[in-house]
Amino acid sequence: MTTVIKGGTVVTADLTYKADILIDGETIAAIGPDLEGDTVIDASGAYVMPGGIDPHTHMEMPFMGTYAAEDFDTGTAAALSGGTTMAVDFCLPSPGQGLIDALQQWYQKAGKARTDYSFHMAITWWDRQVFDEMPKVVEQGINTFKHFMAYKGALMVNDDEMFASFQRCAELGAMPLVHAENGDVVASLQQRLMAEGNNGPEAHAFSRPPEVEGEAVNRAIMIADQAGVPLYVVHVSCEQAHEAIRRARANGMRVYGEPLVQHLVLDEGEYFNADWDYAARRVMSPPFRNKKHQDSLWAGLASGSLQVVATDHCAFTTEQKRMGLGDFTKIPNGTGGLEDRLPVLWTRGVATGRLTMNEFVAVTSTNIAKILNIYPKKGAILPGADADLIVWDPTATKTIAASRQKSIIDYNVFEGVEVTGLPTITLSRGRIAWQDGEVLAERGDGRFVERPAGAPVNRALSTWKELTAPRRVERSGIPASGV
Ligand code: URP
Ligand code: ZN
Ligand code: ZN
Ligand code: ZN
Repeated sequence: MTTVIKGGTVVTADLTYKADILIDGETIAAIGPDLEGDTVIDASGAYVMPGGIDPHTHMEMPFMGTYAAEDFDTGTAAALSGGTTMAVDFCLPSPGQGLIDALQQWYQKAGKARTDYSFHMAITWWDRQVFDEMPKVVEQGINTFKHFMAYKGALMVNDDEMFASFQRCAELGAMPLVHAENGDVVASLQQRLMAEGNNGPEAHAFSRPPEVEGEAVNRAIMIADQAGVPLYVVHVSCEQAHEAIRRARANGMRVYGEPLVQHLVLDEGEYFNADWDYAARRVMSPPFRNKKHQDSLWAGLASGSLQVVATDHCAFTTEQKRMGLGDFTKIPNGTGGLEDRLPVLWTRGVATGRLTMNEFVAVTSTNIAKILNIYPKKGAILPGADADLIVWDPTATKTIAASRQKSIIDYNVFEGVEVTGLPTITLSRGRIAWQDGEVLAERGDGRFVERPAGAPVNRALSTWKELTAPRRVERSGIPASGV
């Protein structure tokens, strides 16, 4: 069975051109003029782009005494409706749990996925067993290990544990990821705010100022540099964090930064809403920031000092958020966005001239495919690549509303935002997975995508670190003491 996408304008990370795309089975077979296929998708007037890859989701995440309500079934349906064809979720071993054991649980959960998926492995505790199991995780096609520098007493790891794990990543050709906030300072600030009677959702933002994030990013960069490994910083929300990444990159370090679409568009004013539910629904870490920080993130995407836009999709219902009534530290942290990432970024980025269409493709798909070492299977429009494609109508409009979303939760942090630019068709490995409001991919259609270790950047960095490693100076004569 072949399909041809006819009459569209192909937009990739580096080119924009008119061409038809021939799909044979699950992959792209040819790109060019006047192609013929068994079935035809009319893309005249539309752009054809690589499907979005969201490298940061938490489906059914066990967190803060509950589980994220969104699971792989509804979450990936939401993804497809917004033009995203792959999600990378975080496998989180509980304290003392083996990595491979936790991975089995995540394979189970992800069995319902409608899009392709992968996992990052989180290092939530440290001892010999974790060290020994890391290569087994890599053998299973996982080349990224996540470290939480915050959530003290739960997911947080300390600097010595991080350094040990980062060195292990370097040996294995894997890459560490960090959630960068100084967890000790956050915990103290939380206690102080609560003691002062500051118990509402706005106190969440006060307890996690940008400086706390900036310090942790600087520390993680230093630790990665000493370990000789590239570093990926998730949910970069502020200038202090961006500045650290920018400076490290200018000094030749291999550091990547991932802003979220929420931080680009929503600001800290959300937490001052008089409606407790409204504010609590927006509680996530790091919190939303002011316009100065938003401008910094947009500039980073345009200049290349930040590479990826993700969502950190971690969706709790209003009822779950109410676990924190009277104590903001108990509001489950997390917001949704999987469905809205592409339309919102297009509307606020491409339509305003802050991003080119090609930059849009780069930051939603191609850059992360390269960073995760799955390019050009994913993130590309090239012969042989998986036919994960979106047909994008730049004139289509909608007003975002929870009542119409695929996501399972009862609200949307982008409620009321008008977007122009929407997918009309989403193809997942050659099959129409979403069209005109309907999810056609079934539960379980998604496949695990293996990501091999030893990406080009890892190899280049190890070569350089080996060349410049400390070396003992061999001396011929040793002076007698006291002479
Ligand atoms: O608040 C957030 N971001 N929740 C999800 C877990 C994390 O820190 O990424
Ligand atoms: Zn995080
Ligand atoms: Zn995270
Ligand atoms: Zn996250």
